Amino acid sequence: MESIWKITAKKQIESKTLDRIEAETVVIGAGMVGVLTAWFLQQNGNDVIVLEANEVGSGQTGNTTAKITSQHRLIYDKLICNQGIEFAGLYAKANEEAIKQYKKLIEREAILCDFEEKSSYLYTKKDLHSLMREAEAAHSLGISASLVTETELPFWVEGAVCFENQAQFHPLKFLYTLAEKLSVYEHTKVLKVEGNNVETEKGNIKAENIIFATHYPFVIRPGYYFMRMHQERSYAIAVEGAQQFQGMYLGIDEDGISFRNYRELMIIGGEGHRTGENPFGGQYEKLYGEAVKLWSGIKEKARWSAQDCFTLDDIPYIGTFSKSTPNWYVASGFQKWGMTGSMVAARLLTDKILKEQNEYQKLFSPQRKLVCQVKKNFFYDSMYSAVHLTQRIIKPAKGEMEDLLPGHGGIVKYQGKKQGAYKSETGEIFLVDIKCPHLGCQLEWNSQEHTWDCPCHGSRFDYRGNLINNPAQEDIGKN
Ligand code: FES
Repeated sequence: MESIWKITAKKQIESKTLDRIEAETVVIGAGMVGVLTAWFLQQNGNDVIVLEANEVGSGQTGNTTAKITSQHRLIYDKLICNQGIEFAGLYAKANEEAIKQYKKLIEREAILCDFEEKSSYLYTKKDLHSLMREAEAAHSLGISASLVTETELPFWVEGAVCFENQAQFHPLKFLYTLAEKLSVYEHTKVLKVEGNNVETEKGNIKAENIIFATHYPFVIRPGYYFMRMHQERSYAIAVEGAQQFQGMYLGIDEDGISFRNYRELMIIGGEGHRTGENPFGGQYEKLYGEAVKLWSGIKEKARWSAQDCFTLDDIPYIGTFSKSTPNWYVASGFQKWGMTGSMVAARLLTDKILKEQNEYQKLFSPQRKLVCQVKKNFFYDSMYSAVHLTQRIIKPAKGEMEDLLPGHGGIVKYQGKKQGAYKSETGEIFLVDIKCPHLGCQLEWNSQEHTWDCPCHGSRFDYRGNLINNPAQEDIGKN
């Protein structure tokens, strides 16, 4: 299953083996944050290289819905309440600027990436009050936001908040164009980072600055990011035969769906859940079912899923990795707003490395203190992880191998022990150890994607046990 972006973009990046032992800056990860940061650093004369375990854009950048927007669900009203108007205003400004910076870069470099300026809408069928508050909050922070009651959506809504001057694009066409002009080493997995040394499977490099642009930081300590982030999955389909919209849409109700066009296609997204909580599956079918109700005669052209990191206070972590590692930098926790957040991160990290002022440093600092209102998220996440850690040890398996139907997986008691099992359509059995190699939580079966997912911090593995998503760094054991 490939995203519409992977199907429609052509990568022409020279494949090369690591031929460097030193660089001023090493960026780990060639997604949007890594490539954009490397781009700005290189433009400023920094000797920067990018190391990528897989391929450019093969992670979340290739699986986004690719909206470039400062409209981050109902964030502004919450930020004003929790952190004050000045803090919320800076967040709004950073994200509004990021949209303009994309436009400027795309125009200056003449990047053909289907960039279009559009209005972005949050809609509701039942919670107009929240939208009114959000519209008022965003407007008070200088965003061109307004409440409307009529939209082009093919169903009734109580209202929508419109943010003007937002954008959408093709993330991989954009990313590949920049990456082609950088020193990127694909299929070069970083194994360890210590001080100024980056150890990879293809050799070691020394660098003054090291940037972790790996979606979820894989280093456990220092930083302890696993204690302050969790991951969620969401799903998208692209269909032909639907409507052409002027705007981009996102529903705020529990079953709210997102819509945007890409050329003649409609991308429909939603059905999110915390990683590791998907025992029944059926997300793509539900999205397609909703789409068919709106536009009969549609045809599905692509389907894909995304994984997003969520911080405790809804603000990404961008800046110095930890107090004890002043030359390490990190950018993570963009929630569902990775495109805009990547630009904010790239500008901020570039300024930090070049020792320039950046007014957003404190706002996004990974070392910021939690305000009281979000401390409960910390306790909830800690308890949640503790429960899943102990479950592996004390909770018996629910079923036996004989109970598994072909094409299904689950935790079973087999040969006297608790194991993960998947029975293929032809009856072949694949067994895995259900202990997550990151910190030992119990992995859970994802019925939609036939993967083993970790509810604690979101690592994922295919049914054979091969690593798909970090923070884990290795495959799971096979039984
Ligand atoms: Fe941390 Fe699994 S991802 S224990």
